Amino acid sequence: MNDLDSPDITRGDTLGIFAQTALAVDMFDAAREMTANVAIPFPRDAFRDVILCGMGGSGIAGDLLVNAYWQRLRKPTRAFRGYMLPAWAGESTLVVASSYSGSTEETLTCMMDAVDRTCPVMAITTGSKLRDHYVPQNIPVFDVPPSPMPRAALVQMLTTLALSLDRLGVIELHPGELEDARDTLEAAIDRYGPQRPESENPAKQIARKIQGTIPLIWGGEMTSSIAYRWKCQINENANLPSFWADIPEHNHNEIVGIEGHGRADLRASVVMLRDPRQHRQVERRFEALTKLIDGRIAPVIDVVASGQGTLGRIFDLVLLGDYVSLYLAVLDDVDPGPIEMIDRLKATLAEGLYGRLAIGR
Ligand code: PA5
Repeated sequence: MNDLDSPDITRGDTLGIFAQTALAVDMFDAAREMTANVAIPFPRDAFRDVILCGMGGSGIAGDLLVNAYWQRLRKPTRAFRGYMLPAWAGESTLVVASSYSGSTEETLTCMMDAVDRTCPVMAITTGSKLRDHYVPQNIPVFDVPPSPMPRAALVQMLTTLALSLDRLGVIELHPGELEDARDTLEAAIDRYGPQRPESENPAKQIARKIQGTIPLIWGGEMTSSIAYRWKCQINENANLPSFWADIPEHNHNEIVGIEGHGRADLRASVVMLRDPRQHRQVERRFEALTKLIDGRIAPVIDVVASGQGTLGRIFDLVLLGDYVSLYLAVLDDVDPGPIEMIDRLKATLAEGLYGRLAIGR
C-alpha cells in the first residue's frame, strides 16, 4: 500500500502490532502499578553488581537501560545475551532474567545458573516457565501487561526494569522523570501514529525516504542501543535487512567502508539518532560525519530525541523507530506481526535434548 494516510493502513497487520503500539501509555501505567505490588525479599546491599539477561525484544530493555543510565549507575551493571554467566558472577551479583514469553532457553539457562551460584535473582515476564518455576521459590517475578509479540512489549518491559532497579538503588530516577516519560509517550503516539497525516508525521516521512534502501542506523551513547532497536524493528516488522553502528566506535572502522558504498550492489540510507544531552564530542562527530558522507549515501536523515528526562527521550526515539518500521511494512505490503524465521529456528532447537534443561520440559 502506497498511501500511508489510508484508513486501511492496518489491514495487513494480522496480529495487531499497530494497535498495541498505540497503547504505550496504558502499558506504561499498568507496568507501574504491577511493579509496585511485587515484594523484593533482599536488601539493596545484598549485591555489588548486576547482570541483566534477556534475548531479542526482551534483552533490548537491558541495553537501553545500561546505555542511557550509564553515568547514573550506582553499581556495575551489564546487559548480557547468551547462555553462560561470566566466571565473576556469584552471591553478590544480582541477576535479572527478562523474557516476555518466559520460555526463552538462553534466559532460562542463565537463571538456573544464577540460582545454582546463589546469586540474588529476579525475573520480568508474562509467565510460562520463568514465572511458574520461580514464584513458588519466593523469587520476585514481575509480571508485565500482555502484548501480541515480545518486541511490542518494550514499554512495559523497560518500565518494569527501570522501576525495579530504582527500588534497589541501582539507578535513581529523577523527580518528575516518570511523569515526563508518560507525557512523551503520549506526544509520540500523537506525532508518529497512523492518524497523523504524512505531511506532518516524521515517522511516515522517514519510512517513505528510506523505502527500497538498506537502512544504516547510527547512534551514540544513549542512542546507541536505540539504533540497535531500530535495526531490530526494521528486521522483524518490515522483514528487511538493516544495520546499526555506535558512534564513536564507528568512526574507527566502519567509516572507511563508506568509501566503497557505490561499488557494492546495494543502496543504503543513513539515519542518525541524536540526543540533546550527548557528549559535545559525540555531537561534533555526527556533524563531521554528515559532511563526510555527503554525496556518497542518500538520504541521510537526522533525528533528535524529544522529552526532558532520560526515560522520556528513550521512549520518543523508540516509538519513532517502531512506527518507521511499521510504515515500511505497509509500503512493502508486509504483515508486521509474524516472525516466521525466528519461530522456525526455535522449533528446530526445541527438538534437541537441551530443552530438558529449560525447566520441566
Ligand atoms: O521479537 C521477538 O519475538 C524475539 O526477539 C524475542 O523477543 C526473543 O526470541 C526472546 O523471546 P522472549 O522475549 O519471549 O524471551
